Amino acid sequence: MKSTKKSVPQIRSHKADGANPPIAMVTAYDAPGARMTDAAGVDIILVGDSLAMVVLGYDDTLSVTIDDMAYHTKAVARTEPNALVVTDMPWLSYHTGVRDAVRNAAKLIRAGAEAVKLEGGANRVEVIKALVDAEIPVMGHLGLTPQSVHAFGGFSVQAKTKEAAKRLLDEALEIEQAGVFSVVLEAVPQAVAAKATELLKVPTIGIGAGPNCDGQVLVFHDLLGLTFGHKPKFVRRYGSLGEMGIKALEGYVHDVKMRSFPAAEEGYQVGQGELDDFSYGRN
Ligand code: KIV
Repeated sequence: MKSTKKSVPQIRSHKADGANPPIAMVTAYDAPGARMTDAAGVDIILVGDSLAMVVLGYDDTLSVTIDDMAYHTKAVARTEPNALVVTDMPWLSYHTGVRDAVRNAAKLIRAGAEAVKLEGGANRVEVIKALVDAEIPVMGHLGLTPQSVHAFGGFSVQAKTKEAAKRLLDEALEIEQAGVFSVVLEAVPQAVAAKATELLKVPTIGIGAGPNCDGQVLVFHDLLGLTFGHKPKFVRRYGSLGEMGIKALEGYVHDVKMRSFPAAEEGYQVGQGELDDFSYGRN
């Protein structure tokens, strides 16, 4: 193990304060993405089930399977990043009982994940305990849990009322008690995320949850401008790789059409005189 390799115990005890900067987590789904995020110094690479939407073109996360997640985890893990590799358990891989959950999480660990993430609160306590009991570290995920898109009736901000905020805080404490080493808070009011961060001993990692969490997470393609269409207000774009990519590809198409690509020096030559008496025809 490299000396700067991030571990679950390091993350578990990392509450952001004056001395400790927030945790930076970014998603990645393949080797180039993992190499870029790791070179940038992220603490955690999340092989998120957002894979479904930003890579595979689905409208929600429900279509990816445990085998899809394992396949993409292998690509990320092969790069041997210093960042901790956490993989999402996809929809229905932990909803059908504790044994299924452990078997499916084991597939992700064998693919190279060092921890798994799953969505939900009180209804996931038994699964979290079983995974922790099987030595599989678990990251929780509360608030807007995208696998509940149909139950929620869309992707909307959660915990906006006093009752819903109390429920979220109760559930955060319950999953902490069950053994999660950190909790993602997605699309919840800043004040609720701040309260959860104050209450929990494990770090909170926010996305659309304000600046007071112990860490932040963004989706790789959102951050780099590789997503097209609606941009949620919590996404800050740090690049326009989509536009840059289209420009580069237009240059390539232009050069092919104009016969200016490839140039002679971009190809291979035979030795001088080698083809002088060469003739070959179709019979
Ligand atoms: O799948 C994902 O990318 C996620 C993050 C939004 C936290 O779960």
